[in-house]
Amino acid sequence: MKITVAKKIPECDAVVFLCSKKEEISLTGLEKPLIRDILTAVGTEEDSALKNGIHHFRIYGHPVKFALTAGTGSNATIEKIRRISSGIVKCLNDLKVEKASIFISDIEKTDRNELLKAVIEAAMLTNYRFDRYKSSKPPKRLSEITVIEKQPSKKTVQAVSSAATLAQAVMTARDLVNEPANVIYPETLAKKASELGRKHGFVTQIFNEKEIAKLKMDAFLAVSRASVKKPRLIVMRYTGDPSKKEDITALVGKGLTYDSGGLALKQADGMKNMKNDMAGSAAVIGVMCAIASMKLKVNVTGVVAACENAIGGDAYRNGDIIGSMSGKTIEVLNTDAEGRLTLADAVYYAAKKEKASRIIDIATLTGAVLVALGTTTAGVISNDDQFYSRLETASHQSGEQIWRLPHFEEYREMIRSDIADIKNTGSGRLAGTITGGLFIGEFAEKLPWIHIDIAGTGWADRAENYITKYGTGYGVRLLYHLLANH
Ligand code: BES
Ligand code: MN
Ligand code: ZN
Repeated sequence: MKITVAKKIPECDAVVFLCSKKEEISLTGLEKPLIRDILTAVGTEEDSALKNGIHHFRIYGHPVKFALTAGTGSNATIEKIRRISSGIVKCLNDLKVEKASIFISDIEKTDRNELLKAVIEAAMLTNYRFDRYKSSKPPKRLSEITVIEKQPSKKTVQAVSSAATLAQAVMTARDLVNEPANVIYPETLAKKASELGRKHGFVTQIFNEKEIAKLKMDAFLAVSRASVKKPRLIVMRYTGDPSKKEDITALVGKGLTYDSGGLALKQADGMKNMKNDMAGSAAVIGVMCAIASMKLKVNVTGVVAACENAIGGDAYRNGDIIGSMSGKTIEVLNTDAEGRLTLADAVYYAAKKEKASRIIDIATLTGAVLVALGTTTAGVISNDDQFYSRLETASHQSGEQIWRLPHFEEYREMIRSDIADIKNTGSGRLAGTITGGLFIGEFAEKLPWIHIDIAGTGWADRAENYITKYGTGYGVRLLYHLLANH
């Protein structure tokens, strides 16, 4: 979708007023007769259209066919603005409008550029479709929005374009998740990451199976072993602040391009959406694109241990004892708890080889997080209060909700093994999200570390507001804000 900023309404099919008060429409500097039409349509009652909801009016005898009013009410939050913007786009698409202009009035206590960003971000995310496998031509949809600003400053234009870049990065992540596992597998995921790196300005290094073996990533290799799709370790480096070369934030994304469960095979119903088991890696790749194209002054290394959890004669088994890059031995009690095995090696690699200063891992790790928090909130484990509070701030900015779970010592004891150093599941179904997270944390070399479980938030069975159906791109904006706040 094309986003522009202009002082006057260009040729377009609809004009949108995002306002908190009726008077603001008359201040927009629009042609008088058109304003009059709209004001008449809005009505005169106290409870006017601008207070509540989105209304549209057909305008006759004017090249602009439709006027839309969307009321924000007073003191609307940024998240509310995003949701209203989403409603506007749905309405425009229903009206088959392809080009629209929008007036956005000021909202008390809200920075104007933040306001514009929220509108653009949500508009683009709402308009997202994944229709490349549909043979019939999809219906036309909104393709251009012009933000009308009386005095567009350089900063305004910058804000609008950065919002568009961020939304684009989220959509890149959604695309990666929505592509099926016969299209996106470790080799093709690595290729996509390299292409995106070249396009946006980060460096990628891809390790093949031999090179992964040389690194002694035995846990990662055990998970991957039964699949004919060979693993790849994808490393993405972005050095936006060369003056602080040693300060590196590592983002580690779970990259199971398909999770059948392995020998602990999933049932058909639990397996059908398991192409989304690389949503963490999609979020990491997406955020790399965003920070590189916006040239953030930070150093970030993205790490993805990409593989497929398949079955086969050479599959790892429930009961196997395997090694890991750290040297710790792992008792595998369930081959379906595979993500933590790949992440153990990826996180350790980030700490040891990439010399990360702090680590965030993001993963579709446990079904248990869906039970605990549903589909709107990610579960978080962290060993560092300050680091966690940075994530909390970012979460308030992006609207992607998180909730921190405890990491009491008893939980760590639940993954102590009698026969090896650690085991990959706790006791039955108890505290599954916590024990899964803590397992990964054991490989973070005591660095400040955050684990984000997005098994519930990375995928949506139905569309809601600006979250479209299927891959949500959850985490891209969250991690972007965390890095940008720095
Ligand atoms: N990829 C799954 C978790 C998942 C579940 C993601 C639902 C998205 C939606 C993960 O690898 C898994 O299978 N976890 C097991 C762990 C258990 C065996 C300890 C689970 O949650 O059942
Ligand atoms: Mn699994
Ligand atoms: Zn999995």
